[in-house]
Amino acid sequence: MKISLTNADPVKLKTSCLVLPIGDVKNLSGCAGSIDSASDGYISDILKLGDLKSKAGSTLLLHKVPNVSAKRILLVSSGGTASVSAGNFDLMSQAQARALKQTGVKDAASCLTDIDVDDKSLGWSAQSIARETVASHYKFDQHKSTKAERKEYKLTLHAADRKQNKQIETGAARGVAIANGMQTARDLGNMAANVCTPSYLAEHAKTLKKQHSSLKVTVLSEAQMEKLKMGSLLSVSAGSVEPAKMVCMEYKGGKPSQKPIVLVGKGVTFDTGGISMKPSAGMDEMKFDMCGAASVFGVMRAVAELALPINVVGVVAAAENMPGGRATKPGDIVTSMSGQTIEVLNTDAEGRLVLCDALTYIGKYKPDVVIDIATLTGAVVVALGHHTTGLMSNDDPLADELYSAGIASADKCWRLPLWDEYQKQLSSNFADIPNIGGRAGGSITAGCFLSRFTKEYRWAHLDIAGVAWRQGGAKGATGRPVPMLMEFILNRCS
Ligand code: BES
Ligand code: MN
Ligand code: ZN
Repeated sequence: MKISLTNADPVKLKTSCLVLPIGDVKNLSGCAGSIDSASDGYISDILKLGDLKSKAGSTLLLHKVPNVSAKRILLVSSGGTASVSAGNFDLMSQAQARALKQTGVKDAASCLTDIDVDDKSLGWSAQSIARETVASHYKFDQHKSTKAERKEYKLTLHAADRKQNKQIETGAARGVAIANGMQTARDLGNMAANVCTPSYLAEHAKTLKKQHSSLKVTVLSEAQMEKLKMGSLLSVSAGSVEPAKMVCMEYKGGKPSQKPIVLVGKGVTFDTGGISMKPSAGMDEMKFDMCGAASVFGVMRAVAELALPINVVGVVAAAENMPGGRATKPGDIVTSMSGQTIEVLNTDAEGRLVLCDALTYIGKYKPDVVIDIATLTGAVVVALGHHTTGLMSNDDPLADELYSAGIASADKCWRLPLWDEYQKQLSSNFADIPNIGGRAGGSITAGCFLSRFTKEYRWAHLDIAGVAWRQGGAKGATGRPVPMLMEFILNRCS
């Protein structure tokens, strides 16, 4: 996909489809106003008929609009207001991408940045448009014997004033990088688990390093993890023939003295549940149990592509959860790297077991903040459905920062508490801590478990079990929460 910029008069723009934002229908301004005057009120006449619904993101495709060079015009509603919220602008970007894809045009020009977004710059708007456009063209056919042909697609962003060019260009480049990061996350997530093993993830980090010399990659083997006493993580891979890997990617774009943001991803490349085995229906979806790890790869790619002035470390705890002869059994007690002993009452609560050792290990990076990303609990789907990531944190400002980043990137999260009442559900007769806390508040007690290993730094946990992939006919990885994490990182760069 090519994204370029134009300052030309929209009336004279030669394009297969010109996109116009429609704010206040009674008072068309900017590009929409120019097109309306040039076409003797053609647009306002149609708006009077009420064919463009007033909901933000509603669209209407028009043909043969008089006196304009564009072959088609796509109207995108702001919701009837002259300026929009960031959330509604994202809906407009998504609607534009969807409608353009449906028409099948190979090129389009968009005036969407014409509409003001509350508290956001033009660059932010361009970022939203670019991200949604590139992401909408995602296709995964790696495992198909015949691949769909990749059509060249061109999007031109219209800037009313030359002075805006720089901002829009920078924003668009950010949007493309975020979509590229989402692509990485989706590709890894969608890949079959017999291909995408812990070793494959380790290799992927090395491939990423080849593309971006700014990345430093180290991979810990099982032998090295044994030396570090990661008994919890290793108890998960014990029943599998695939060796576990700890993949560390360091990006240093900021001052050497600047403490890094550390991202830790759950990389369970397949989760059978182990000896506490899962039912067979839908178990194929447990190939997505490494989507947290996949999002860490996606963010590292986007950060490196943009050469951001910040320090970020990405760590992936990769293991396969299988019920082999050496598998951990319910009631087994393991010792984590932190020294805390864990009674494994359910081998299907394995995500927290791989994460806790990674969360101890990353202390060596002297992190500013730590964010773990994991498809951790089915319970978060019960609590928040498939729309919202579960957020938990030991630091209020960090939680607020992530919440706002989610709102501004169409990738929302909502906070759940980690209060002491819930901590009490984690008690074991035989070890320091059990790996499950009962049915009630399952996502929260999983967060409480992790909190026992994150006391030394500011930390947030993102439970993405409900949002990382779609089920049914459109089954596939979504690339979330790459947009939220990138918004968070970009905000910290400025
Ligand atoms: N990977 C699963 C969580 C999951 C389940 C994500 C379904 C998406 C859909 C995780 O390892 C798991 O099995 N969690 C258990 C925890 C329980 C045993 C305390 C769960 O949620 O059932
Ligand atoms: Mn599990
Ligand atoms: Zn799992």
